Amino acid sequence: MSDVTGSPDYRDVGLRFPDGFLIGSATASYQIEGAYDEDGRGASIWDTFSHTPGKVWNGDTGDVADDHYHRWEADLDLMQRLGLESYRFSIAWPRIQPTGRGPALEAGLAFYSRLVDGLLARGITPIATLYHWDLPQALEDEGGWTVRSTALAFADYARLVGEALGDRVAVWTTLNEPWCSAYLGYGSGAHAPGRTSPEAALRAVHHLNLAHGLAIEALREVVTNDPQYSVTLNLHVLRAEEGSGESGADAVRQIDAIANRAFTGPLLHGAYPADLFADTASITDWGFVQEGDLARIRQPLHVLGVNYYSTTLVRRWDGSSPRSMNDGHKDVGGSPWPGADDVEFLPQAGPYTEMGWNIDPSGLEELLMALHEEFPAQPLMITENGAAFADEVVLDDGTPRVHDPLRVDYLRRHFTAAHRALERGVDLRGYQVWSLLDNFEWGYGYSKRFGIVRVDYDTQERIPKDSSLWLARLITTRSIPS
Ligand code: NOJ
Repeated sequence: MSDVTGSPDYRDVGLRFPDGFLIGSATASYQIEGAYDEDGRGASIWDTFSHTPGKVWNGDTGDVADDHYHRWEADLDLMQRLGLESYRFSIAWPRIQPTGRGPALEAGLAFYSRLVDGLLARGITPIATLYHWDLPQALEDEGGWTVRSTALAFADYARLVGEALGDRVAVWTTLNEPWCSAYLGYGSGAHAPGRTSPEAALRAVHHLNLAHGLAIEALREVVTNDPQYSVTLNLHVLRAEEGSGESGADAVRQIDAIANRAFTGPLLHGAYPADLFADTASITDWGFVQEGDLARIRQPLHVLGVNYYSTTLVRRWDGSSPRSMNDGHKDVGGSPWPGADDVEFLPQAGPYTEMGWNIDPSGLEELLMALHEEFPAQPLMITENGAAFADEVVLDDGTPRVHDPLRVDYLRRHFTAAHRALERGVDLRGYQVWSLLDNFEWGYGYSKRFGIVRVDYDTQERIPKDSSLWLARLITTRSIPS
């Protein structure tokens, strides 16, 4: 039986997840915290970017966001009521070091320390991400991720955080989606800092990879518990247009090098792919990769974090009609694909989420299987999966509710896909749904709601959507509810 996307039936119910498989939810600092100028927090590139007219939908900023900085305790209670086993959050570097250098701000560390204690007191496993895109602006002013010194500064920051929380955090994730930081931040310009240079994007790729390696080395020196180390990637599930033959396959190869192997190569194999160097030779000679870097980047990882939302369809562009660029990212002029100006990104079959992204759970199974085949000994964790839909609040007997059957269906199908991968032998350790709360969706501001809990931005009221109750049931029963 096939579902609407033509892939296998992902509506199976009653599938059980093993004990120890961590099911929870995820957020990120800039997207939920607000309190952008409190307790000494410095400015990040997202403060600058969101305050620059025209960069973010409706002029939205993270100044207040979900006001989680003040409401963290109630938010933890909510997580407990939902029965979350794990919570993936990120630490705002400019709360710890306002300029990205120097001693740690006690107030910043204290905030995250209370958060971690609050999670542990509620029996929720803390998964901490060190970098979810809020680079201190002062470091960007020195070149940001295009320069090596930012990677070195990141290691110092990791050490400070590790010293403070390294007795309690269970899983450390260095970077979230370095693809976005490098290519959307420095290539397309859709994300902060909004630069549009292919060379800068490639330099950022390397310095982010280096930052990951150096941060793990630093953490290892200071933590006192026995944590797991990880990094979270948004690997692209690439497909060639049907019938596009060798040229389509080569387009897949090229985009795979930029999007996927530029990270998995150094992080897991200890080398950049030769074809990435060849394809980008006219942009850079990669001279910024210094001797010894690759050995430091390749660190044993307890889990590789996988963020998955949809698939990507490509072919070689022959120039006969305008270039199709449906790559799922906001088009603001620059390209997130250095050296691939002759690749087209094609519209895909629906259904779609509110982001315009196609819903295809078979892509998740395919991605997990492909990683398992390439890195058989590498445990994996889904660190993000979820969907934005245009939710509505209704009053049921006077109580505000959000019935979000599309999100429930999305999650059911993707949990089923993950379960299939488990059955097929993938060492999958957990699943963090994006996101716990509606929040600041980067260039889309507050116009896209990914939360399993609704946030009323006028009152900051939290309204658990049906999807959160569905997830709660999954966690209690350990099987996928109908
Ligand atoms: C990936 C990012 O990590 C997260 O910050 C973002 O909100 C979601 N995807 C949805 O776009």
